[in-house]
Amino acid sequence: MAGMVTALAAAPAPVRLLCRAHDGSGGASALAQGGIAAALHPHDSTAAHAVDTIEAGAYHNDATAVQWLTGEAPAAIAWLQQQGVVFDGAAGGALQLGREGGHGAARIVHAGGDATGAALVRALRARVQAAAHVQWRGGVDVGALLLRDGDVVGVRTCDDRGRQQHIEAAAVVLATGGIGALFAHTSNPAGADGAGLALGLAGGAASRDLEFMQFHPTALDIGGHSLPLITEALRGAGARLLDAAGQPLMRGQHPQGDLAPRDVVARRVWQAQREGDKVWLDATAVSGDWNIRFPTVLAACMAHGFDPRQVPLPVTPAAHFHMGGIATDLDGRSTLAGLHAVGEVACNGVHGANRLASNSLLEGVACGRRLGAALAHATAVRGGQGSHRWVERGESLSPASLAALRTLLWHAAGPVREASSLRDAWRACAAAADAGWQMRLAKSLLRAAVLRRRSLGAHCRHDRGCPG
Ligand code: SIN
Repeated sequence: MAGMVTALAAAPAPVRLLCRAHDGSGGASALAQGGIAAALHPHDSTAAHAVDTIEAGAYHNDATAVQWLTGEAPAAIAWLQQQGVVFDGAAGGALQLGREGGHGAARIVHAGGDATGAALVRALRARVQAAAHVQWRGGVDVGALLLRDGDVVGVRTCDDRGRQQHIEAAAVVLATGGIGALFAHTSNPAGADGAGLALGLAGGAASRDLEFMQFHPTALDIGGHSLPLITEALRGAGARLLDAAGQPLMRGQHPQGDLAPRDVVARRVWQAQREGDKVWLDATAVSGDWNIRFPTVLAACMAHGFDPRQVPLPVTPAAHFHMGGIATDLDGRSTLAGLHAVGEVACNGVHGANRLASNSLLEGVACGRRLGAALAHATAVRGGQGSHRWVERGESLSPASLAALRTLLWHAAGPVREASSLRDAWRACAAAADAGWQMRLAKSLLRAAVLRRRSLGAHCRHDRGCPG
């Protein structure tokens, strides 16, 4: 989504939008069930939204960036409406404003109930495909960056028949999403594997906050890797987490109970699982028409044989959102000239150590608009006779090694961590770094986690004061 927004906002500059999937599917944005946070109520304020964002981020955020982001939110909603997104309305013509964990006010706008991400992606894809300045190329992987005199000036693509193409460009933007698919259980699609982050790091761009990975407490526990998300909004609507004996799981754990911050709930579910118990989400008391309020959750549960209106759902934590990434400023500039990053692959400091609910689509839209505007007049490909160099991401791991790496990261760098297993996993990845780029990326993440010796936000060190 961040990539499409950037492309649209970059008009009139010519943009080539390179996607792995032919139809542009496969990103995590279309799966987003939460909405977009924006202080739109007369009794709310962008300053209050900023305070909630910084509290959720464990005060590790860049305060100036947060104030900018929350200040941009109302304009981002208006811009999306201009692109054809229809948000859910309340009586009287105003937008319906929902509340999610960590927000001190009702400020979440949705489209199609829990199908906000899908509605956004659909509308933006139609705009992009109709935009004369954007040339869409699906079915290609970007595996190398072209550097001239140290600046990024192009990429090499490879299509699914192995044909390669070199493309020179005035600017290269990574909008490749997160790394959830590197963990054994994730709410992300398989394509959220960190390939863009790995490419940027291979090129020499600086990273920031790689250790901060957010785990969502409630993915549908059907076994396997990429699991359907069960939105937090269900707990906002009255669903309750239960332990194996049917007792409230969050009782006595946190003043906000089931709506405690996401990391607190995820750790509690993780701990129960470690003790050998299954955890259930009982949503049978949620009222209203599920086909309107929660069509995505309803369809996913029914597809796996659970009617959430009738029976409790088995749930598990799942890797959900990467706060860290390629270090950028608010214009998306990385430390490598010519290379930009936007959306989840970037880290510009807005999320701190733990992202606040429904701030990720907001970041994609606000930062994509800002980056696109900054690149709108960058039409000239930088020429010159300087030395050329290709930087490769490198070979992928074999499927068996990738599965083993996912398990390793899940146990060592999951919702609860401790020094010795982080260090052992780091050593294992360092020893196997030549096996594939995923191993090198995991090594960088684990190194950051080892070096962050205190618990902070989503980085919970059991050996350093984290209650997990
Ligand atoms: C959710 O709906 O529970 C997830 C929303 C988000 O990730 O912000």
